[in-house]
Amino acid sequence: MTWMLTGGAGYIGAHIVAAFQRAGVPVVVLDDLSTGIRDNVPDEVPFVQASIADPAVVGAALRGHGVTGVLHLAAKKAVGESVARPLHYWDENVAGMRSLLQTCVDAGVDRVLFSSSAAVYGNPPVDRVTEDTATAPMSPYGETKLAGEWMLRDLAVAAPLRWAALRYFNVAGSGAPELGDRSVANLIPMTFEAITAGRNPQLFGDDYDTRDGSCVRDYIHVVDLAEAHVAAAQRLDAEDTGEIYNVGRGEGVTVKEVFDTVRGVTGQDFVYDVAARRPGDPAAYFADPAKIRSQLGWAARLHLADMVRTAWDSWQSRALGAS
Ligand SMILES: NC(=O)c1ccc[n+]([C@@H]2O[C@H](COP(=O)([O-])OP(=O)(O)OC[C@H]3O[C@@H](n4cnc5c(N)ncnc54)[C@H](O)[C@@H]3O)[C@@H](O)[C@H]2O)c1
Repeated sequence: MTWMLTGGAGYIGAHIVAAFQRAGVPVVVLDDLSTGIRDNVPDEVPFVQASIADPAVVGAALRGHGVTGVLHLAAKKAVGESVARPLHYWDENVAGMRSLLQTCVDAGVDRVLFSSSAAVYGNPPVDRVTEDTATAPMSPYGETKLAGEWMLRDLAVAAPLRWAALRYFNVAGSGAPELGDRSVANLIPMTFEAITAGRNPQLFGDDYDTRDGSCVRDYIHVVDLAEAHVAAAQRLDAEDTGEIYNVGRGEGVTVKEVFDTVRGVTGQDFVYDVAARRPGDPAAYFADPAKIRSQLGWAARLHLADMVRTAWDSWQSRALGAS
């Protein structure tokens, strides 16, 4: 069994490469390096620099490396950018995936594991979100992820296809200092950026109907998330299935609790500024991970403090490298 990881040079992909190596599953990485980093991929892992939308190169790589399954991570992921450049997101995330799936069909690859997102739920009507909670994405990004799931579901009716989509909740932390998340779009890196620049981080809304007034989210360590992919790939290698799984800790954490954890880990006793609520930010939601636990035997092991500590180690090692 050999798996091709599209987007394997990115933040999450690099951790999945490491998890597959630990599990003894051979991998090949295909990445156009638009946001990924070549050094994230170990030297011993075959690397193909190409777009998922290049059928000639992707097809040759699938056949040349004897690939049996594709783990599709390559995508654009910034919600705000997707609002400003919707057609770019539909091109990259939907047309690109369509091309990739056709190339898989043509090459006889019949297993696809897809990086989806909790963004497909939008503003869910319940706090604890199951896979059956209605999907109602609130951004072009979320829509493209839902369209990807639909493509897989539809293709599986018409062609031999084993598939799974993993809906990630809020991914954080790192497995090694050099593999940290380099984008500052998420709360933990945004907080680090503010405190290292001597600014107060912002709290968007402190009057939500939650235990401390700030928004509640489900944070999942990227190493735990990577292990969920190993479990899902092993299931697809063993059985003909098509399933969607939430991947989260199943625990809601408030923004103020994240700030407290950052204070504890960094030793910096910062204060925050309260800003207006951001439009479209749901008050509270977190994953119900019962399905992935019962079907794949996966459960998160690492906690918020592990995420903040490893993310802080990465942040500091980058700051040292830049100086
Ligand atoms: N980071 C999160 O919190 C989060 C949450 C939910 C879902 N996801 C999904 O997880 C996946 C990986 O996210 P990430 O955080 O590692 O992002 P990332 O930007 O670090 O990684 C994406 C990788 O895909 C590559 N890529 C992009 N477009 C490509 C194309 N057309 N052809 C080939 N390679 C291409 C990039 O170079 C990069 O290496 C994405 O699909 C994203 O939507 C991420």
